[in-house]
Amino acid sequence: MTLIFGIETSCDETAAAVVEATADGRLRLRSNVVASQVEMHRKYGGVFPEVAARRHIETIHAVAREALEAAEVRPEALSAIAVTHGPGLAGSLLVGVNFAKGLALAWEKPLIGVNHLEGHIYSLWLSQHADSLRFPALCLLISGGHTELLLVRGHGAYVLLGSTLDDAVGEAFDKVARLLGLGYPGGPAIERAAREGDPRAYAFARADLGAERPYAFSFSGIKTAVMRAVQPQPTHGRRVRGEEALKADNLRPDVNIADVAASFQAAAIEMLIEPTLRAAQAHPVSAIWLAGGVSANAYLRAQLAARTDLPVYAPPLALCTDNAAMIAAAGYFRYSAGQRDSLSLDALPMLALA
Ligand SMILES: Nc1ncnc2c1ncn2[C@@H]1O[C@H](COP(=O)(O)OP(=O)(O)OP(=O)(O)O)[C@@H](O)[C@H]1O
Ligand SMILES: [Mg+2]
Repeated sequence: MTLIFGIETSCDETAAAVVEATADGRLRLRSNVVASQVEMHRKYGGVFPEVAARRHIETIHAVAREALEAAEVRPEALSAIAVTHGPGLAGSLLVGVNFAKGLALAWEKPLIGVNHLEGHIYSLWLSQHADSLRFPALCLLISGGHTELLLVRGHGAYVLLGSTLDDAVGEAFDKVARLLGLGYPGGPAIERAAREGDPRAYAFARADLGAERPYAFSFSGIKTAVMRAVQPQPTHGRRVRGEEALKADNLRPDVNIADVAASFQAAAIEMLIEPTLRAAQAHPVSAIWLAGGVSANAYLRAQLAARTDLPVYAPPLALCTDNAAMIAAAGYFRYSAGQRDSLSLDALPMLALA
């Protein structure tokens, strides 16, 4: 039996988990501890990097201990320590990487650096569909910092087909939620509000990047379109911009928040689905995989499944947003492939997947 200890601190979740791999390569979650900083970052409407890094330092020991205890695993029994070393916030990544190095040294265990985005993809191996996953697959990776269409050819073999030209889709959900006064993180809040709204109430223009960039995305336009639709027109003088414009105390009185949320969600999801279907037609793939925080969106899952004959697989809801179980899962495949990193492993804030 292989036991991988995963550690994740790339953004605002301090997380540790133990994943067990049986002899036939099946993964089982033994523990999964996530200490979220959401409450603390709520008052800023987003993540404050220095505050996030300091909080990781304060909580990482307790989170790691809790993950081992919940898994009923003693350090000696571990096969390896897997840690996110990028992409993410530099200060946050450094806390996890240095902590993992300390454990690897003290416990004499192999150290394995894992790409956070690969981690999101490997959360699928912890889902009920794990046995059905086949290569090549098309992966729509959608999170707070990334929106990418990837061809997954094998373990660790990715071809980037397209990505966002500006904002990530999760970022657009967060900004629109803030604009509507729905709080942070915005994705779940928009999804909830949208259930009561009419998706046809507002016609937000969908970015169509045309034949030239069939697999690219763009979300900055729709964010501005929502802002224009809900904020008062300037009668005289200047239009409010920047941070100030994202404040919810400036909404037009006739705005129906549920309708705006539903219309925005429908448009944003449509903009994810179109390039994905195009890519699925152009490449012979076994399935469409969803990964990353936005893959928790039920409307997306349902819409995509309704529009393709391919199977659509998504991670368990609890593993869509940041966690260390996915890092341990990706770490297991890297460990099996023979990857071993030295104690000079770097935190790489801009690390890419392909
Ligand atoms: N149900 C949902 N619908 C839409 N968006 C969602 C939902 N749940 C979470 N999100 C969005 O997912 C994002 C968080 O995802 P995740 O934790 O994967 O991102 P991140 O780690 O910050 O970014 P990255 O993985 O790119 O570094 C947030 O933008 C959040 O609003
Ligand atoms: Mg993430």
